[in-house]
Amino acid sequence: MKFNTKTIHGGQEHDKAYGAVMPPIYQTSTYAQTTPGGHKGYEYSRTHNPTRNALEKGLASIENGNYGLAFGSGLAAIDAVLKLLSPGDEVISTNDLYGGSYRLFTKIFERFGIKFHFIGMENADHIEQLITQNTKLIWAETPTNPMMNVIDIEAISKVAKKNNILFAVDNTFATAYLQQPLDLGADIVMHSATKYLGGHSDVVMGSLVVRDKELADKLYFIQNASGAVCGPMDSFLVLRGLKTLHVRMQRHCENGRAVAEFLASHPGIEKVYWPGFEDHPNHEIAKRQMKDFGGMLSFIPKGGNYADAIRIVENLKVFTLAESLGGVESLAGHPASMTHASIPKEEREKSGVVDSLIRLSVGIEDAEDLINDLKQAIG
Ligand SMILES: Cc1ncc(COP(=O)(O)O)c(C=O)c1O
Repeated sequence: MKFNTKTIHGGQEHDKAYGAVMPPIYQTSTYAQTTPGGHKGYEYSRTHNPTRNALEKGLASIENGNYGLAFGSGLAAIDAVLKLLSPGDEVISTNDLYGGSYRLFTKIFERFGIKFHFIGMENADHIEQLITQNTKLIWAETPTNPMMNVIDIEAISKVAKKNNILFAVDNTFATAYLQQPLDLGADIVMHSATKYLGGHSDVVMGSLVVRDKELADKLYFIQNASGAVCGPMDSFLVLRGLKTLHVRMQRHCENGRAVAEFLASHPGIEKVYWPGFEDHPNHEIAKRQMKDFGGMLSFIPKGGNYADAIRIVENLKVFTLAESLGGVESLAGHPASMTHASIPKEEREKSGVVDSLIRLSVGIEDAEDLINDLKQAIG
């Protein structure tokens, strides 16, 4: 199956009871047994649930993986990956990553004796210099949130394989529509399914997909033992979201380009971060690794004033000022005070997340309306 067919049919079968085309929402915590252990494959919904399983199979299919796992949030999915580690282990991570991932690493897992190194990953050689015998995981986000740096997944996979280190990619911004990290050599692909996979800003969920059975078994064990699973209703919503992922992403990319080009030509804008521009420092990697350039971008108003950035986000009418991204509706965010507030100012400014930076999640409305809204807000 090709990608657009997989989003709709990948891993799916019609319901065994009545042939329902969409899997029923199995809103149940438990399953009747005829004798202890005499059941139809389901015992308790933390461990398995038919609606969640249908979603997990769909997720595995679109990422070209073998095993999918769905969690109660993106952070719960990352938490499960980190629980593969033990005290003394080291992780090398992208330096401009989602603030909540940074907070989970530094405020929770550092206390349990795991050491994190945060670096820019545009050059895979820089990673190699940080590897010790304790390095067990490389964590990358690409494109990065919110600076839109693009990391060469294949180059890092080679470093990870050579040194026998697990390599996980947060694919939230790009989605499997734009890039498939497992095909490029990553071991684990992670999503905040809250974003493009769900696609309608109505659910919080996370996912992991892997190819290796042994790794999958360890993660399924953690998923059940730690228990951060998502419910059947949310599983249904994300499965429904997956079925239109390709058409939504196509429009997100078209509108992302239109908005990026408008902002780049506006005299009131100093800098636009979008990997589709030929002068973007990682444009060549983005072109090679991604099918298109996505609907996420960031920009700085002329002069780089905090007050101007706040005025612009307050003036927007079609764009909603809100946390999150990847829904059908356009959203604007102020990373320094919203999504990335948990990263100390000096740390976040090192990677470019200055107080005047605005992040846009360009939705699938009419591009003209989005551009007019930005025009009036910038003034
Ligand atoms: C790139 C990225 N990774 C992970 C997360 C965390 O996901 P969730 O909010 O679903 O826990 C987010 C949330 O914004 C994100 O943008």
